[in-house]
Amino acid sequence: MSNEKGLRKGLTNYGDKDFAIYLRRSFARSMGLSREMLDKPIVGIAMTPSGFNNCHRFMPELVEAVSRGVLAAGALPRPFPTISTGEVFLNPTSMVYRNLMSMDTEEMVRAQPMDAVVLIGGCDKTVPAQLMGAASADVPAIQLVTGPMSTGRHKGERLGACTDCRRFWGKFRAGEIESDEINQVEGRLAATAGTCAVMGTASTMAIIAEVLGMSLPGSAAIPAVNAGRLVAAEATGKAAVGLISNPILPSQIITQKSVENALRALMAVSGSTNAVVHLSAIAGRRGIRISNALLNKISDETPVLVDLKPVGQGYMEDFHAAGGVGAVLREIKHLLHLDTMDVCGVTLDERLAEPLDWVDRKVIREASDPVSPEGGLIALSGNIAPNGAIFKRAAATPDLFEVEGRAVVFEDLEDLADRVDDPDLDIKKEDVMVLRNAGPIAAGMPEAGYLPIPKKLARQGVKDIVRISDARMSGTAFGTIVLHISPEAAVGGPLAAVRNGDRVRLSVKEKKIDLLIDDAEIARRMQGHTRPEKPKRGYRALYAERVLQAPEGCDFDFLVHEDLHSAETNKHPRVRK
Ligand code: FES
Repeated sequence: MSNEKGLRKGLTNYGDKDFAIYLRRSFARSMGLSREMLDKPIVGIAMTPSGFNNCHRFMPELVEAVSRGVLAAGALPRPFPTISTGEVFLNPTSMVYRNLMSMDTEEMVRAQPMDAVVLIGGCDKTVPAQLMGAASADVPAIQLVTGPMSTGRHKGERLGACTDCRRFWGKFRAGEIESDEINQVEGRLAATAGTCAVMGTASTMAIIAEVLGMSLPGSAAIPAVNAGRLVAAEATGKAAVGLISNPILPSQIITQKSVENALRALMAVSGSTNAVVHLSAIAGRRGIRISNALLNKISDETPVLVDLKPVGQGYMEDFHAAGGVGAVLREIKHLLHLDTMDVCGVTLDERLAEPLDWVDRKVIREASDPVSPEGGLIALSGNIAPNGAIFKRAAATPDLFEVEGRAVVFEDLEDLADRVDDPDLDIKKEDVMVLRNAGPIAAGMPEAGYLPIPKKLARQGVKDIVRISDARMSGTAFGTIVLHISPEAAVGGPLAAVRNGDRVRLSVKEKKIDLLIDDAEIARRMQGHTRPEKPKRGYRALYAERVLQAPEGCDFDFLVHEDLHSAETNKHPRVRK
């Protein structure tokens, strides 16, 4: 790669370098930039505003504040757009477009002349996409998040998207509230710009970005509407300029140790199940794999310290006011690798040596007084999930941890929608709801794993039932739900063999999910299994052809780090032709 800096970096190929820089400068000057500005180092700002992304509504202000920081530090800011994935606006699911956004980010960072880049994202898939792209481009990069929403109010109660969205929807389905009230709630759930107000996927990924070292210390949880968010944006711009004179690459920041630290933080904050998939994808871009054994070891050793919805009581604005990520990290310091380095060149040890003035112990507990002595997420294994599954024990009902029940199978998402509320559906609260053909290849792995409680049970007051699938669920959801079963049914995973009336056993203590029939019968049932037809053109065809399974982060096989690529194409031949 050339050592050229600023505007001279990565010249357009005309076969005449002098002509290329002359033309580039000329066109840059048409944007009203002086020759003096064009001689400065350049910080790209990957911005993601969109009329289809409410979580990024304050993007223009953030870009302005980052630009201010870049200019003050002596470089030229150059904002540029990439695609933006607004969680609730994409069909079939934003997950399908995360990889597209990561490719857009990686390629535009690499192709355009920038010495460092600030990546501004927030909504669920945007931060993972940007970190994946930055990890692969390996250009000095800093993540800035848009910040969480502040809460709304309804009849004296605080409301935050989206745990309360589900809580009120559950009440509506159970007939506890009328349509007038659900319409009122609809207008009060998402009260400000910013990302979902609870410890959902966006909040978890913002925390992971900070713990990895890819964003400024203390910046993950500042509310979107808080002036401190703009101050952090300005500081991010300045820090990006610092990365030009003193380069620290994503490959030096995203390491085995920092990934393990991020997993610790994920457990301590009782974060989203989706974060396991996204962190696996980010780590995979640097040749790092997260095994189920490592996940479970870290989970068993790490206490839950944060009392936030969907598991506890508070919201992200409370978490920020309580002390934020720094307060959590200080409590689990003895479990962390302290020699990891962040974008400022500061080690975690140096960061945590700084004293904290105050911590709200109602929101962030001491390690000696945890919300739970062990982490919120575990990996399950068993004959129904040979490559594993994910279970959020912190969000589940303890009475359902050791159960055996009768399978009630839904063939796919359409079948679920058609039959779940059928009054004739043969289901009891002791049964296990099974959804298949909702994995990465079959359906893009939507957040459909939070199967609705069938209306006939909801109206009897049933609040939870064991549900298993190859889908994901929203980080803001809760329940006794086994997710990410791998391999997915569509590629011949044993989930495809389950029949109505089979017995399924869940044991959280043993970390097992099993179909209680023998292997020979599973093999017999799988004979003649056919894969669903794949899309034939465009990005969707590429996606279905090259996406890996959940343990590999649902990344594309051709985007993972080359150290993993050949190993994984051998290990998972079923996901390739
Ligand atoms: Fe964007 Fe929840 S919809 S973070």
